[in-house]
Amino acid sequence: MDELAEKIADARDRLAGAASIIVLTGAGISAESGIPTFRGQEGLWQSFRPEELATPDAFWNDPKLVWEWYEWRRNIVKQAKPNPGHYALAELEAETHNFTLITQNIDGLHQISGNRNIVEIHGNLWQVRCTKCGDIVENHDVPMAELPPRCQKCGEIGRPNVVWFNEVIPMDVIDRSLKAIEECDVMLIIGTSGIVEPAASMGLVAKQTGKCVIEINLEMTPSSPLYDLTLLGKSGEILPLLYTTERTYS
Ligand code: APR
Repeated sequence: MDELAEKIADARDRLAGAASIIVLTGAGISAESGIPTFRGQEGLWQSFRPEELATPDAFWNDPKLVWEWYEWRRNIVKQAKPNPGHYALAELEAETHNFTLITQNIDGLHQISGNRNIVEIHGNLWQVRCTKCGDIVENHDVPMAELPPRCQKCGEIGRPNVVWFNEVIPMDVIDRSLKAIEECDVMLIIGTSGIVEPAASMGLVAKQTGKCVIEINLEMTPSSPLYDLTLLGKSGEILPLLYTTERTYS
């Protein structure tokens, strides 16, 4: 049995024996669905400058330009389908006593593939938030009727309901994530470069509290040495091999 196969068998056993599992996903889990990641050769940040498109200053400097970029991303995501990695996580949730999925992704593919207990720490591409009254609406129109969209309640312009650089993540979202880490037996970290906080530190918090942490990525990340297992490969190919109905946890 090759090294990866051995690690997959080990990871499958650890997950089968876990009463409580937390999963953290990044852009890598959606890469096989055709959605560009942020870093690496084909990453979004190779073609665009985040400070020009994904910050509050960029938005107030040119709301229409920022919305045009998000419109372009909405068009890509609208055509994307969940891949076997997304569906494997939905199966895992259905079979696990206590399961939380924390995602940095804003594409909504985890909802489509069937996961339920989801914490979207960077928001959601399909929601528009009023810049004045804070009203949040779902908007799946591609293209959108007008850019920037207007709040139906107060008429002010709406912004994507996502977390930009230089913005903080709401405390209730952080608390919910840390509580899930505290309660878990095993943490899966999938398809994230582990650079952007606070997600980047979640695996360390799990290790500091004695949890088993299993990483799935195409390559090693800065935190890989901290983790119990790093499975190198595509999450869409590996995740379906980790799920088993023979739960040793009853
Ligand atoms: N399977 C597993 N891992 C993959 C795959 C795949 N098929 N394809 C790419 N990866 C890995 C890459 O090796 C990389 O480590 O996914 C990771 C993607 O890293 P990033 O592009 O940095 O995405 P992410 O970690 O989610 O970025 C975090 O940064 O720009 C902000 O808000 C944005 O939520 C994002 C945050």
